[in-house]
Amino acid sequence: MKVSVIGTGYVGLISGVGYASQGHDVICVDVLEEKVAKINAGEPPIHEAGLPERLRQVLDKGNFKATTDITDAIENSDICFISVGTPSAADGSIDLKYIEQASKDLGTALKNKDSYFTIVVKSTVTPGTTEGTVIKNVEAASGKKAGQDFGVCMNPEFLREGKAIEDFDNPDRIVIGRLDEKSSEALKALNKAFTCPVLETPLSTAEMIKYVSNAFLAVKISYANEVAEFCKKIGADPYEVFKGVGMDKRINPAFFNSGLGWGGSCFPKDTKEFAAAAKREGANPRIVDAAIETNKILPSKIVELAGDVSGKTVAVLGLAFKAGTDDVRESQAVEVIKLLNEKGAKIQAYDPEASEVEGLEREETMEKALEGAEICLVLTEWPEFENIPFSGKIIDGRNIVENRENYEGLFW
Ligand SMILES: NC(=O)c1ccc[n+]([C@@H]2O[C@H](COP(=O)([O-])OP(=O)(O)OC[C@H]3O[C@@H](n4cnc5c(N)ncnc54)[C@H](O)[C@@H]3O)[C@@H](O)[C@H]2O)c1
Repeated sequence: MKVSVIGTGYVGLISGVGYASQGHDVICVDVLEEKVAKINAGEPPIHEAGLPERLRQVLDKGNFKATTDITDAIENSDICFISVGTPSAADGSIDLKYIEQASKDLGTALKNKDSYFTIVVKSTVTPGTTEGTVIKNVEAASGKKAGQDFGVCMNPEFLREGKAIEDFDNPDRIVIGRLDEKSSEALKALNKAFTCPVLETPLSTAEMIKYVSNAFLAVKISYANEVAEFCKKIGADPYEVFKGVGMDKRINPAFFNSGLGWGGSCFPKDTKEFAAAAKREGANPRIVDAAIETNKILPSKIVELAGDVSGKTVAVLGLAFKAGTDDVRESQAVEVIKLLNEKGAKIQAYDPEASEVEGLEREETMEKALEGAEICLVLTEWPEFENIPFSGKIIDGRNIVENRENYEGLFW
């Protein structure tokens, strides 16, 4: 099939090269010229296992390209994914500016298209957004009618950064919110290589499924951290506790790793918007609110364990919000660094892959970060932090360090 994708971030680029690797013709669109040039040169702008190889393979095959020209992309495709960012606004609610712009651009490009076209919203958006914002903007800019001249689906993405290619290839389920049957048939045809269950729903139900999934996973982690704090007080190992808990088939062991909590581009903004949207509708999201609060205090807990750091050199290992990604958006490590700075520590930070953190100078190696440090904080679970050549005190926020002399775990 002929596919276009608007937005070449973690979701758009992985989906684009993924569908191309299945043999579809894919055009990815982004507003950033530099990003588009990099992608076309075979250089992934993000760090994801397996992405360099897959990108090279589809570029060589000739059925994948990136462009800044949305008109060309829409002219030469029958189905288009919107996968632009949906960050938090200052008040924590969702900022739809990229969705607004992308749907207007898409509508304008659709104006002269004669054949039926399917629009698929893949970005995580508040229930009601596809109907209220995307359809409205596309109709206004194109002069066409949704459900008649073009079809609309909402197809949330569940991939994990760091395992994005693996997750694209092996989804647990495909959720298709649909306005009309013709467009959901087109989306199902595009996804026919996958063998997982497909759930078809109204548009806003699909939007809701994504928020509820992320909020639930965030609640699981915060619950694990609440339990872990209690465990430390009585000398129990929370990892052993959750091993036993997770053996219950009704519960499932995933997302019970206690530590410094969640961060990244999804859980923080999605939990905040879930809570904000629920309140706007007059509902009371007490559990999700509590999970957010539990997560928020974790950076200060690890800094407390470090004691008086004023004037001391502190090695900080790990900046990415989790291992396997370069993403530092809403990383707990960035919060820890802010607190250490406030307390007058001299920070020597290292991460093997993380993108730039504003105002922070970085060391090139773990050894350099440890040089002359009195204390070491481990904030991301990169495998190279399993053995840290350091004789000062190590405080582990991720239960990754194996050499445990002069060691303290956040909750274990
Ligand atoms: N990152 C994840 O792990 C993940 C997982 C599931 C769902 N999601 C959701 O998917 C969406 C995208 O997330 P992401 O992490 O890939 O975002 P991102 O910020 O990494 O990438 C978004 C891209 O869209 C581009 N863009 C913005 N406006 C545009 C426009 N008008 N036309 C063309 N390109 C435009 C930006 O330049 C950027 O390259 C978000 O809603 C997010 O919540 C993300």
